[in-house]
Amino acid sequence: MRVLVVGEGAREHALVWKLSQSSQVSEIFTAPGNPGTAQLGTNIEIPVDDIGRLIHAAEHNQIDLTIVGPEAPLAAGIVDRFQERGLKIAGPTEDAARIESSKVWAKSVMNAAGVPTARAETHEDFESAAEAALDMPLPIVIKASGLAAGKGVVIAQSHQEAVDTLRQMMVERSLGDAADQVLLEEHLVGLEVSIIGITDGTTILPLLPSCDYKRVFDNDAGPNTGGMGAYCPVPSVDPELMVEITRTILQPTVNQLREQGITYRGVLYAGMILTPDGPRVMEFNCRFGDPETQVILPLLESDLAELMYLSATGDLSTIDPPEWKDAAAVGVVLASGGYPGSYRKGITIHGLDSLDPDLTAFHAGTTLDTDGTVVTSGGRVLTITATGPTFADARERVYAGASHVKFADAHYRSDIAARELLTHR
Ligand code: AMP
Ligand code: GLY
Repeated sequence: MRVLVVGEGAREHALVWKLSQSSQVSEIFTAPGNPGTAQLGTNIEIPVDDIGRLIHAAEHNQIDLTIVGPEAPLAAGIVDRFQERGLKIAGPTEDAARIESSKVWAKSVMNAAGVPTARAETHEDFESAAEAALDMPLPIVIKASGLAAGKGVVIAQSHQEAVDTLRQMMVERSLGDAADQVLLEEHLVGLEVSIIGITDGTTILPLLPSCDYKRVFDNDAGPNTGGMGAYCPVPSVDPELMVEITRTILQPTVNQLREQGITYRGVLYAGMILTPDGPRVMEFNCRFGDPETQVILPLLESDLAELMYLSATGDLSTIDPPEWKDAAAVGVVLASGGYPGSYRKGITIHGLDSLDPDLTAFHAGTTLDTDGTVVTSGGRVLTITATGPTFADARERVYAGASHVKFADAHYRSDIAARELLTHR
């Protein structure tokens, strides 16, 4: 099978890394890819939003399956356009991708399916939203309905902050059309867990649960980022709870969509909080998580290419559920100093070649200098991942790797998976 992966981050490097281990995969292309994916296949210099050129590349390179990393091309209808040309592609259609691109619609699907989720109300004008917010208990979760590149959720700690946020979003239109509709949502408290399933629209096969860390500094201080680290599995989501989550959240969502005439194929990611009253969904994404993928795939024993191919074209009920290594995985993101604010680029990265071969360094914000040296080119530079028999062991290894790979001003959190230190796995 010849595979094309669309995307350029550490998530896509992890997908390519795992696909490269499949006996069914003969060649891998990544568009646009990064220096990490270039070591495992061929990078094609096409941006993720140039669907026309991606179609051309898939046809030209006789691609049997395309796998899409980021949400933007899915929300823009890449799957519909590939399918019109008879190309096989894993992912939801534009209509189905609204599960992520419209939080208002996703909430209506959850409510129709009876999926446990945070209570929320929708507002389309500033005055009604502000009036409602003033009556809500603190903190208040304010969400722009549309895609906002990670900037669409604000947890307001005071009524003044809530009103100011609503004014920015709805009057000053700081997020553009994304905040034409805004959700005011109940604030949930508990452990935040990512549950990712692969589905053909009827059967959904859950992957192992994982936790990511969104704030830039230790102890969840500082601003939100694209993710500073993750670990997998999550001991408090035991196999029994996974069965319950599949039965009460993942499967009813896929069934509800089918009833609404939407066959949802590809990856369905539920971001949830384990509240004292049970799991509650905060949001759905229509793709793999980043950095979750970088810790889930190193534990996957089964063939990712087969799972994705069947999700795109076939029947996942014909195969066994995914099999997993009995181990823990911890991933630490090395970021440029200053991220998520401004930061320098073009800084030489040392130590990648001599990294412990049991560790993986998934590239994100890296590029090759004219002389072939790997230099920084983005905020999140690399995800270093280690596996081990226990979280303590995986942590020790991953932090040895994180301190071995060096670049000026590098920043990483030191507390990834620290809460699981005393858990066996
Ligand atoms: P989202 O884009 O919906 O994942 O939201 C971004 C982050 O905001 C989540 O990862 C949570 O940490 C937080 N968040 C979102 N919704 C809620 C909620 N209802 N209660 C508490 N925290 C939330
Ligand atoms: N890790 C959060 C996300 O991928 O949206």
